[in-house]
Amino acid sequence: MSQPKRYTITAALPYTNGPIHIGHLAGVYVPADIYARYLRLKGEDVAFICGSDEHGVAISIKAKKEGITPQEVVDKYNKIIKDSFADFGISFDNYSRTSAKIHHDTASGFFKKLYDQGDFIEETSEQLYDAEANQFLADRFVTGTCPKCGHEEAYGDQCENCGSSLNATDLINPRSTITGSVPVMRETKHWFLPLDRYEDFLKKWILEGHKNDWKPNVYGQCKSWIDEGLRPRAVTRDLDWGIPVPVPGGEGKVLYVWFDAPIGYISSTKEWAEREGKDWKPYWKDADTKLVHFIGKDNIVFHCIIFPSMLKAEGSYILPENVPANEFLNLEGNKLSTSKNWAVWLHEYLEDFPGQQDVLRYALTANAPETKDNDFTWKDFQARNNNELVAIFGNFINRVVVLTNKYYDGVIPEAFDLNEEDERTLAELRAYPSVIASSLERYRFRESQNELMNLARLGNKYLADAEPWKTIKTDENRTATVMHIALQIAASLAIVCEPFLPHTSTKLKQMLNMEVTAEDWSRIAADDDILPQGHKINKAELLFTKIEDEQIEKQLEKLEKTKMDNKASAQVVETASAIAPQKEPIQYDDFMKMDMRVGTILEAEKMPKADKLLVLKVDTGIDVRTIVSGIAESFSPEDIIGKQVTVLVNLAPRKLRGTVSEGMILMTEDTDGKLVFMNPDRAGVENGGMIS
Ligand code: 2FM
Ligand code: ZN
Repeated sequence: MSQPKRYTITAALPYTNGPIHIGHLAGVYVPADIYARYLRLKGEDVAFICGSDEHGVAISIKAKKEGITPQEVVDKYNKIIKDSFADFGISFDNYSRTSAKIHHDTASGFFKKLYDQGDFIEETSEQLYDAEANQFLADRFVTGTCPKCGHEEAYGDQCENCGSSLNATDLINPRSTITGSVPVMRETKHWFLPLDRYEDFLKKWILEGHKNDWKPNVYGQCKSWIDEGLRPRAVTRDLDWGIPVPVPGGEGKVLYVWFDAPIGYISSTKEWAEREGKDWKPYWKDADTKLVHFIGKDNIVFHCIIFPSMLKAEGSYILPENVPANEFLNLEGNKLSTSKNWAVWLHEYLEDFPGQQDVLRYALTANAPETKDNDFTWKDFQARNNNELVAIFGNFINRVVVLTNKYYDGVIPEAFDLNEEDERTLAELRAYPSVIASSLERYRFRESQNELMNLARLGNKYLADAEPWKTIKTDENRTATVMHIALQIAASLAIVCEPFLPHTSTKLKQMLNMEVTAEDWSRIAADDDILPQGHKINKAELLFTKIEDEQIEKQLEKLEKTKMDNKASAQVVETASAIAPQKEPIQYDDFMKMDMRVGTILEAEKMPKADKLLVLKVDTGIDVRTIVSGIAESFSPEDIIGKQVTVLVNLAPRKLRGTVSEGMILMTEDTDGKLVFMNPDRAGVENGGMIS
């Protein structure tokens, strides 16, 4: 596309069923924010859009688990998530909620338009149903084996292992996540978006149109889905949490969350435009707008296949120019997991590293999972901070600001004659914005941030070579020139670091007493000084502080504890699943009907032709009676004569192999499955003693 007139940048709407962690930040929100900030710095017209994804089964499940309503769940997490984004400087122009009226109206209207245009197939079919919970099973209410990759925990709408989008009925061995039961089939009516009708459009648009500019991981996934052939996909659900289906026959049904959520980008843009007194339409309908979706790899099918087909069907919208999806971030070698608490939660990070948001942003971008899954380690985090932010960036700024205050009382000195080194350094400096921009335009955030650090390296090298702390004694003009140039590098850093390290940029601009202007980005490449001679800067403040080993140890210990806790609860689950479930409750009176006594085995012999049975004579205190007991595989007769045992004496007599048995000996099993008598735990107990 030629030079766009404006940009609509969206970041995946997070599910509002938990707080957000470093994986979210690294995969979606930091790159999206860098991109949006960079464009604004260049003076572009940008709408950076996000909001909470508040519908769907994930929310209902969380509500059930916490014993609160779905609305309470989304209210709670919407606040936590929104606060985290603000804390980390994610500069959305608007952060909305899909529970907002404007969204319900927009999504309803969108559905209605497609319905009126005849874009849906209306079909009654058999769907999975949980007879215990009286509920249809879709999406996260059902798991089973993925028919594509064999992953055993695939959801009813998607396998997170291979990224395939599924229909619940595709799952092998489906199970309800509500009750654990095996679903039955039951008829229900739904509206389907016939994706097969959009195959030609998708082939032309993606396979021919974006072969070279979309990331290979995104293009590759799209290609394999399209090549496999697309099928109609239900866009409504039998649920009570969501946006009601606004057409006849839709009573009691809601829109599929993945139908409504991406429309959330549009409604959030509308909300923003209303507030700002702008028109939202050009941001979604003008061909000169560049629409970019930032997402994680598990969202590719929805943003590249389903949502574009919806937009195409509607007919009046533009399509995304790019969908730079990231792969996943792991933590210390293991997959990030909310349920296993294997995560660095943003609100917890800030408790341990107050004011150090930019360090995390920096470490996550340096290690961003752009082309493959990547690992976040606390050691790498520490090294990025100590060896790069502190030792290179912070050190350069500190030297420049301290020396300027020391030699010139904080006033920018004049630059005298420039030597070759000065000219070369200035030329390099002026090239940086376009080097960084070129990486950013291609969504290569790691590379671009590395160039930012190279600019700080340039400053350090320039100072180290020119040694103004030495020349100050011998050559005042040379020292002034060097400091003047070093100050231009520092000011350029304050500008170009803004997309990556916004808090640092603000602090540095204050230190350098810089005015922020709309032309900041282009000022670096221009010949004019950013900080002119005579401009006064402020005193030095540390931009970054060293992170000590103890702080890292503490984080590693926290993770170690999580590991232990997970192991312990896995053991509890394992043990619990080996133990038979508790029987139905009985009343006290039922218990009192049983007459259990202490008795002693007087005689024991094998029952002929029965491997398992012994015939016992037992003194129950009341009488001596015959009891046939199935214990022959665990005891030989001679071992048990004289043993005190517990006997249920009023069990109705039963004939076993021709012998009448008048009671039952109480037993349990040891871990090897061998029988063990439930006998009194010490001697001196009389036969006939009652068990109560
Ligand atoms: O994967 C998720 O967290 C989804 N809530 C993303 C939705 S993106 C969009 F389409 F709204
Ligand atoms: Zn799969």
